Amino acid sequence: MSTGASASLAENSVFLTPVAPEDLDAVSAMAARIWPAAYGAILSPEQIEYMLRWMYDAETLRSNLAAGVLTWWIVCKEERIGFLAAGPREEAGLCPLHKFYLLPEAQGRGLGSAALAALVTRLHSDGVRILELRVNRHNHAAIGFYRRNGFTVHAEDCRDIGGGFAMDDYVMRLDLASGTF
Ligand SMILES: CC(C)(COP(=O)(O)OP(=O)(O)OC[C@H]1O[C@@H](n2cnc3c(N)ncnc32)[C@H](O)[C@@H]1OP(=O)(O)O)[C@@H](O)C(=O)NCCC(=O)NCCS
Repeated sequence: MSTGASASLAENSVFLTPVAPEDLDAVSAMAARIWPAAYGAILSPEQIEYMLRWMYDAETLRSNLAAGVLTWWIVCKEERIGFLAAGPREEAGLCPLHKFYLLPEAQGRGLGSAALAALVTRLHSDGVRILELRVNRHNHAAIGFYRRNGFTVHAEDCRDIGGGFAMDDYVMRLDLASGTF
């Protein structure tokens, strides 16, 4: 009989599997499900549509892959529950985390923390020292999540992204070299 602790460990077991080029359309489709729920309260529908077209167009995702951006499915109980995109590693061991999204029904159950831990283990063994991401300054839930997982705010960055829209972000960093993650 399993203990409660081991049952909850199994419940939170996630795996990262590489996204194949032929699956990029499925990434776009999953983003289109996640974004309105994640950003509906902080971005206009027009900006969400603009950013989805800009960042998740199949051609853009293909060129990201060709440029060395690593993309993984987050898998739990054999179901794809989200995706991550990171890299390539830059000078001085800095690695950008471009995308980190879970389906709404998978959020808030510790699965994002488990996926982040799996990513950090991989990146650490690949020589990454700092993981850096951008998060909308009004995305308080995600900012809280990142803080709880050891990230700190490194900078603020508001940039024009065209179409009359701006991205108003915190740049957050996790120091993998400190071993405190
Ligand atoms: C941010 C995200 C990856 C975190 O993964 P998660 O599995 O929901 O987070 P966990 O369950 O491991 O951690 C939950 C903690 O994060 C916070 N959190 C962030 N988003 C949450 C959500 N949608 N539902 C519940 N908790 C959320 C909670 O405050 C919670 O803290 P607590 O345990 O002290 O209450 C995920 O919620 C998500 O995909 N959100 C929508 C997209 C997004 O904002 N992505 C980040 C872009 S930079």
